[in-house]
Amino acid sequence: MKHSLGRRATPRPFLKWAGGKGQLLPDLLERVRAAQPFQRYHEPFVGGGALFFDLYRRRMLGRKQAFLSDSSPHLIETYCGVRDDVETVISLLEQHEAQHSEDYYYQVRADVPSDPIARAARIIYLNKTCYNGLFRVNTKGAFNVPFGRYKNPMICDADNLRAVAEALRKPKVELRHFESVLDRAKPGDLVYFDPPYDPVSETASFSAYDKAGFGHDSQYRLSIVFAELARRAVHVLLSNSYTDRVLSLYEGFTIDEVKANRAVNSRGDRRGKVSEALVRSF
Ligand SMILES: C[S@@+](CC[C@H](N)C(=O)[O-])C[C@H]1O[C@@H](n2cnc3c(N)ncnc32)[C@H](O)[C@@H]1O
Repeated sequence: MKHSLGRRATPRPFLKWAGGKGQLLPDLLERVRAAQPFQRYHEPFVGGGALFFDLYRRRMLGRKQAFLSDSSPHLIETYCGVRDDVETVISLLEQHEAQHSEDYYYQVRADVPSDPIARAARIIYLNKTCYNGLFRVNTKGAFNVPFGRYKNPMICDADNLRAVAEALRKPKVELRHFESVLDRAKPGDLVYFDPPYDPVSETASFSAYDKAGFGHDSQYRLSIVFAELARRAVHVLLSNSYTDRVLSLYEGFTIDEVKANRAVNSRGDRRGKVSEALVRSF
């Protein structure tokens, strides 16, 4: 397996995910190093998994047990499909790639297969070819993003998928609400929270990862979970928007302001430099 850190180093996130943390990696790594030596690693909002895959590539997790979870059933099922039968996922993606067109996209979007591995390949195909790479579901939980006009979308990156399957072999990958990390994290563990952003303005919210959304209430609950873990001597790291609400929810913890280009806001196609808050308990 490849472990170099070049642009194409594997494993990398295999889904384009709103709020992906690729850009913040240097800042996050610096803080993960400061938490060393930690015991086990928890990512309760795993999304595309930018930090987990980076830590894996850098061998920074070593033999540590990792727990990766998210509340999106589509996402978790796709992770499990790649982990459990990557060769079938690859061959199904090659079939999608061979037939790719706008009509074919809408046909795949409309038909949800009964087989979980076929559903995993379907989500990867739709994610690579949909408008803006946005993963969005409607109130019924169905993927509803229109066709994206890419010249040559990379639909099947077999090398990366095989490396992802290897990286996912030992971690526990589960469909869980973030609060359940309280049942599991022990003193000396590291928890990285990357929740849906607290909106910079009331109209700038992007929280349609799943049908429940993530409002002020959830942000508040998360800050309570953060404080409880910190009280139990768990190392806790969190990224969020640099808003007055976030500053006040995490008052008393170390909060650094870092700049990032944010790809998704009220109009998914607009980008701009925004401040992000990195909060830590250690
Ligand atoms: C900002 S994204 C994480 C991005 C990820 N760090 C990356 O690099 O791609 C937030 C994630 O939180 C998940 N989520 C939303 N509400 C949740 C909840 N109550 N519990 C657990 N996960 C949740 C979403 O499905 C989404 O994947």
